[in-house]
Amino acid sequence: MADINQVQFWQDRYDNAQTGWDLGVVSPPMRAYFHHILSHVNKDIRILIAGAGNAHEAIFLHELGFSQVYVVDFVSSVLDNFAKANPTFNPQHLLCHDFFEMHKFDVGQFDLVVEQAFFCAIDPTRRDEYARQMHRLLKDKGQLVGVLFDCEFVNSPPFGGSLAEYRALFEPYFDTDIMAGCYNSVKPRAGRELFIRLIKV
Ligand SMILES: C[S@@+](CC[C@H](N)C(=O)[O-])C[C@H]1O[C@@H](n2cnc3c(N)ncnc32)[C@H](O)[C@@H]1O
Repeated sequence: MADINQVQFWQDRYDNAQTGWDLGVVSPPMRAYFHHILSHVNKDIRILIAGAGNAHEAIFLHELGFSQVYVVDFVSSVLDNFAKANPTFNPQHLLCHDFFEMHKFDVGQFDLVVEQAFFCAIDPTRRDEYARQMHRLLKDKGQLVGVLFDCEFVNSPPFGGSLAEYRALFEPYFDTDIMAGCYNSVKPRAGRELFIRLIKV
């Protein structure tokens, strides 16, 4: 089997339609959060959807009027499909990079990075690297917002974790504004997700 750190692993998943993680729409916690920020956030803030896959969050935010929405995923075909399906979305905002390497390109920093089923897809030995990279990609006081699993899995990916583990992991890089059980997960994930809002320190 291909290495989870390599594009091929994920390309094979998409080619074989093994994409059970994909909800087909924005997850209810993220939809609620996006509606919440509408009232008090400028629509030109720079937003990154990390490990975006089919990037339902990106088109949702785009349709809400956010103009600086970026997507990163290292599988090019998934970004090509997104571009074809969403011709009004700026193709220059589709970043085909390895998340862990993207600071080496001229991508700038973001006000908000969205986490949805990406953290659970990376090699768990890279979690500190993930936290450091999120810190580097965010502007001062920028926010990492999303959903993390609060359970363990027999077959991985996805890789699980716990609130205690996440607190220790993010603490050197972020203030925790919210890290709490989701009340609005999709049914199969109910009781097994945490909503996070972390502020860069
Ligand atoms: C489990 S999928 C989640 C996709 C999407 N967020 C969703 O919820 O449908 C994980 C995604 O992360 C991408 N990915 C994994 N490792 C990556 C990396 N190092 N850099 C960029 N993308 C990566 C994969 O290609 C895949 O699209």
